[in-house]
Amino acid sequence: MPLVEKIAGQVRARFAAESSGHDWHHIERVWRPARRIGAAEGADSEVVQLGALLHDIADWKFHGGDEQVGPREAARLLQAEGVAASVVEAVVDIVATISYKGAGVATPMRSLEGACVQDADRLDALGAIGIARCFAYGGHAGRLLHDPDTPPVLHATAEAYKTGRGGSLNHFYEKLLLLKGRMNTASGRAIAEERHRYMEGFVSQFLAEWRGTDSTEDGR
Ligand code: ADP
Ligand code: NI
Repeated sequence: MPLVEKIAGQVRARFAAESSGHDWHHIERVWRPARRIGAAEGADSEVVQLGALLHDIADWKFHGGDEQVGPREAARLLQAEGVAASVVEAVVDIVATISYKGAGVATPMRSLEGACVQDADRLDALGAIGIARCFAYGGHAGRLLHDPDTPPVLHATAEAYKTGRGGSLNHFYEKLLLLKGRMNTASGRAIAEERHRYMEGFVSQFLAEWRGTDSTEDGR
């Protein structure tokens, strides 16, 4: 069996029971566009696909904040398949650097392949699915849908971002609406812009309903 398919099967089995917004379907929704963006950008297809498949293999949010678990696990899986050291290194680098770490924290990718995978991952945080994932994660983490008493924070450090609280709606201001301006590739940016507009509409409708200003019957 080709390497990419083999790793895909392993990742799929591992993610079968995950419901926090990180599930096999998220991986698939990153894998497909990553392949397409990678082809448009002239990136190495094997590294792009392995990076997409393994990018969330052990997210720090679910391992007590340990950011090394993911890269280590990715390396272990690839080495077990006898993958060339240069490919392992390229994929591990993607897994180690892909994450969003706060509004004020730059997260540059060190390779073209990484840039493509990061864009594909970020696209899945946007649009209708991005909205659904935000509230799914918020519920999982015990957050309110919206907490008007806790304003959004443009986190200056990864540490502050990780420990931040507040309602899920804050996440739009702290991450989701900022992603459009942080896309790496032209093809990724075009899709991001469409999904961004959709989310802006959602947020303004959400707040109008919250305040009761969406209804013409308001004020009776
Ligand atoms: P990704 O898999 O796109 O890298 P993350 O691992 O950061 O994203 O988070 C998984 C999903 O949960 C994403 O859609 C993300 O935007 C969302 N999410 C992360 N942190 C929060 C939060 N504090 N509140 C609400 N949603 C969040
Ligand atoms: Ni992801």
